[in-house]
Amino acid sequence: MTKRAINFNPGPSAVPLDVLKIVQDELLDYRGSGISILESSHRSKEFEEVNDQAMALVHELFGLGSNYQVLFMTGGASTQFGLIPFNLLEPGQIGAYVDTGEFAYKALKECQIQGKAHVAFSSKGEGYRRVPKMSEIKYPEDVAYLHICSNNTIEGTQFHELPDTGKVPLIADMSSDIASRRMDFTKFSLIYAGAQKNLGPSGVTLVIIRDDLLAKGKKGLPTMLSYKTYADSKSLYNTPPAFGVYFMKLVLEWVKGQGGLAGMEKINIAKKDLLYKTIDAHPDFYKGTADKASRSWMNVTMRLPDEDLEKKFISEAKKSGLIGLKGHRSVGGIRFSIYNAMTLAGIEKTVEFMESFRKGN
Ligand SMILES: Cc1ncc(COP(=O)(O)O)c(C=O)c1O
Repeated sequence: MTKRAINFNPGPSAVPLDVLKIVQDELLDYRGSGISILESSHRSKEFEEVNDQAMALVHELFGLGSNYQVLFMTGGASTQFGLIPFNLLEPGQIGAYVDTGEFAYKALKECQIQGKAHVAFSSKGEGYRRVPKMSEIKYPEDVAYLHICSNNTIEGTQFHELPDTGKVPLIADMSSDIASRRMDFTKFSLIYAGAQKNLGPSGVTLVIIRDDLLAKGKKGLPTMLSYKTYADSKSLYNTPPAFGVYFMKLVLEWVKGQGGLAGMEKINIAKKDLLYKTIDAHPDFYKGTADKASRSWMNVTMRLPDEDLEKKFISEAKKSGLIGLKGHRSVGGIRFSIYNAMTLAGIEKTVEFMESFRKGN
């Protein structure tokens, strides 16, 4: 039997086993075509169908109308950090940013390269332990947009409320919590996410943009750097990251099979509740690092009494088949990345390990 670890890698991360099996099964002969989808033309009937279905699934699962365009781009979320101001910030305009972590700050810096950024809130001085209360987010009313990072992968914090921005377009980096819970997605003018946590393999970036913001986009940009090019061509202006789009379609179908975002949310709540309960039961040994009200459902971060014990925890966990638990190099500690593909059974096994490790140490 194939050996499968309980995979806590922060990204690229675990993908649902059922999806991997479909990919394996279809790899050599895609649905009777005699070739792999990897070998198909992106202009073929087979691939166009995959592309259309992937887009339709995004609309369906996120509850979006036809005034939202689904784009499949490349370059990861980091490229979006730059493309957002590049497309949406007119000379003299200001982009507003909520600074809640390393990636949120990187997005802000990319805006500063191109124009002016307003820091609408920052928890940097508090070690990024929390996201703001909505009343703490402040920005001039004429900003081009407000940017948030809905889940802070490194710091283990997440927005559980959304700012009401009125006429100001709300933009979110959802790289690490996309498709994990219900949300009023119609509050957003632009959503983006690298696929490699909740949507499949790295190499494809999902962008969802509303028509009114798309229409405001700057003209005369290089073709491949303009959102409009992707929206006008169903992301088929040039060769797309075809395998990633195919894979994402399968993952979205799997999410649908879990009961859509409502079903996914239910499983994710059970997972994070069990993990946080175990951490909080022994605060002298396991110490959650994020403020309780800001705790992430996707990246659970904690410290042990000292670094040697943390190293021991990681190495003994590995022996028990739990991998990818080392906290980000900038913050240390332990991080459980429990994206959609992590099962409740995986968390139950983890909690058992945590109990026995605590008793033995
Ligand atoms: C929230 C968030 N934003 C952005 C990034 C950067 O993504 P990419 O490597 O796709 O550029 C990451 C990567 O982990 C992330 O977690």
